[in-house]
Amino acid sequence: MAKKGFSEEQIAKRFNLFKEKYQQLYPEDLWEYIEENFWLYVFQTCAPDVLMQVYTEMGLVHENGDFYAAHISKIKERFNIGCNIIDIGSGIIPSFANKLAYEQLKINKGTITIYEPLLVDAKAKYPNMTIHKEDFTQKTDITKFDLVTGIMPCEATETIIEQACRYQKDFYIAMCGCVHLAMPSYYGSYISPEYYQNYIIDKTKRLIKEFNNGELEIDYLDSNFAIDYPILSNRR
Ligand SMILES: C[S@@+](CC[C@H](N)C(=O)[O-])C[C@H]1O[C@@H](n2cnc3c(N)ncnc32)[C@H](O)[C@@H]1O
Repeated sequence: MAKKGFSEEQIAKRFNLFKEKYQQLYPEDLWEYIEENFWLYVFQTCAPDVLMQVYTEMGLVHENGDFYAAHISKIKERFNIGCNIIDIGSGIIPSFANKLAYEQLKINKGTITIYEPLLVDAKAKYPNMTIHKEDFTQKTDITKFDLVTGIMPCEATETIIEQACRYQKDFYIAMCGCVHLAMPSYYGSYISPEYYQNYIIDKTKRLIKEFNNGELEIDYLDSNFAIDYPILSNRR
């Protein structure tokens, strides 16, 4: 597997440039992780999110497709992206939001606001972006947004879905493979990712009905990405 049109030497050069710009912004232990694992995943279609963000910001596109671009295509099939979007859990580098902002600029329509407490750089990459280096909570005002997105937003997943349904917002949430259950009765016992995903799906079905927010659609990325976690969106 190769990155589209890049030799190892070119990738190494780009990584050095990335290092010069970003290394000092990362927490030391996280930068160590990136250095240690950079070559391990660079030829895979999917990698831990912090590495996918690095590859994306370096402009490396895998010959079998780009993870964030694949999500943007799916969003475009369902929704008009020329609207006011809120993206939650955008990542240490908000690669997905950056790409989506760029797509909006191409059509000269739409804004994207992000909530992510761990951003390494709180400056917006594009003029149509607004950055909140903070947690999204039930108190975050989402009334002015049209579409709520989250790509593997981990522990924010349940709150995002609750708020999107409560305020009748369109949503596109790609789940991750983690388990984030705060149910006391399950404390101490093993909960599989599938159990957690089904719990979120059942809850979304219930909320979408309760708040009259359309129909739930469940989708997956193509198998070449080797990430078979559900993508939840509504269809109105
Ligand atoms: C698995 S990462 C995904 C990052 C990014 N969406 C991507 O795909 O590259 C999950 C992110 O959600 C963020 N997060 C978790 N809870 C959050 C909350 N309540 N509000 C905002 N971000 C949150 C974490 O800081 C982390 O960066």
